[in-house]
Amino acid sequence: MNRSVRGDVVLLNDGKAALPGRISKAPENFLHPDQIAQVSTSRRGFLHSALTLAAGGAAASASASARAEFLGDPNILELPQHTKGLGRPVAETGYGQPSQFERNLQRRESPGLTRVAAASVSFAPLQGMFGIITPNGLHFERHHQGWWDIDPSKHRLMINGLVKNPLVFNMDDLMRLPAVSRLHFIECGANTGMEWGNVAVPTVQYTHGMLSCCEFTGVLLSTLLDMAGFDKKSSKYILAEGADGSSLTRTIAMDRALDDCMVAYAMNGEMLRPENGYPLRMVAPGIQGVSWVKWLRRIEVGDQPYGTKDEVIHYIDLMPDGRHRQYTSIQECKSVITSPSGGQTLLDKGFYNVTGLAWSGRGKVKRVDVSFDGGRNWETARLESPIQSKSLTRFNIGWVWNGGPAILQSRAIDETGYVQPKINQLRAVRGSRSIYHNNAIQSWKVAASGEVSNVQVY
Ligand code: MTE
Repeated sequence: MNRSVRGDVVLLNDGKAALPGRISKAPENFLHPDQIAQVSTSRRGFLHSALTLAAGGAAASASASARAEFLGDPNILELPQHTKGLGRPVAETGYGQPSQFERNLQRRESPGLTRVAAASVSFAPLQGMFGIITPNGLHFERHHQGWWDIDPSKHRLMINGLVKNPLVFNMDDLMRLPAVSRLHFIECGANTGMEWGNVAVPTVQYTHGMLSCCEFTGVLLSTLLDMAGFDKKSSKYILAEGADGSSLTRTIAMDRALDDCMVAYAMNGEMLRPENGYPLRMVAPGIQGVSWVKWLRRIEVGDQPYGTKDEVIHYIDLMPDGRHRQYTSIQECKSVITSPSGGQTLLDKGFYNVTGLAWSGRGKVKRVDVSFDGGRNWETARLESPIQSKSLTRFNIGWVWNGGPAILQSRAIDETGYVQPKINQLRAVRGSRSIYHNNAIQSWKVAASGEVSNVQVY
């Protein structure tokens, strides 16, 4: 179809705006069964009016279709009850809650993953989120031995090892130190792991949902290390240790520790949630999630990597030559289209705002290209501000679906010039026996029926 794009409005050959298409939510977002019925009834009505208009000639303007839809619609013609009565008083709930109509947008455990006791993961519903900030109640969770709600008055952080003055802080001490607030993404190294094995996980929540982005507040690790007087000559690494039953421990190289790592107590303007490490966690920007040690209780300064169980057995990559790659730190540049995405259905031909997220553990996202034909042709998407280092970046691009099969892909490029690879390019270097660190281009197939599914394009 010949078309041009002005801003994000797609114009057809005759210069008129394309009708906006409609999309069903992914299955896990569905509201109550009666609401699904309402939604599909009104969509059928819309489809009918759109077809009538199309039969009469070229596509009509969006405003004409809107007028047609309003004819006889009681939701616009009759005053609803809420315009005539008293609303509820304030402070009915001390802590604000989402609308009852949004209650099915939740983080979820994958039905396909085995839960080992409390060791589990819940995925963030990327398909239903906007912008780049993850609301605290939708932040993904990954625990090796379950989570705890630790009493902050008893929580301590010790700094020891190659330091002149070993220190122990309580939370009050830490919160009196100079603070910084920074926007960063966190991605589990196992995110998108199922795709290594050709397993078509159905929705973006399960393919990419071990990903979140928050404004974190805390103290720079460099401030604490300076206070402890770390030995600048011999100190090459730190070990961060959690206070949970898994005693999760991770080595972080000193240059990264001093660069931008933080000891954080807050996310998105409030104290951390218990499941995300309350009252204290490591924030290791750009580094895989496992190094963001939660319920942080100890930082040891050392002169060599520690080789703990969480770094020599887990989160390592089995390379094609049979060797293990350890200490993969940086989450490489990656992107994904979050809507339309697997499990959703395009209900009409017409205009769609294709939207998604891009990120890089090495800095800022420079560009995102989107393909609608499985990678043959690419168009540059619009990046929304803010575009910050080691943070999620939101992209949008307009697309007119002509009702035929299509394959949607996004490809991110970061400020170092690194280009997100195709899955076969990644496999050529990494083989196919990995679980971790899959940053390949994701493909969503749109069938002529409008159904969107997960496919791999080589
Ligand atoms: N820290 C401790 N103490 N225990 C854990 O199980 N899980 C790690 C990391 N920090 C973990 C931990 C893993 S594997 C990830 S991906 C991130 O925390 C997940 O952080 P989140 O649950 O806040 O999303």
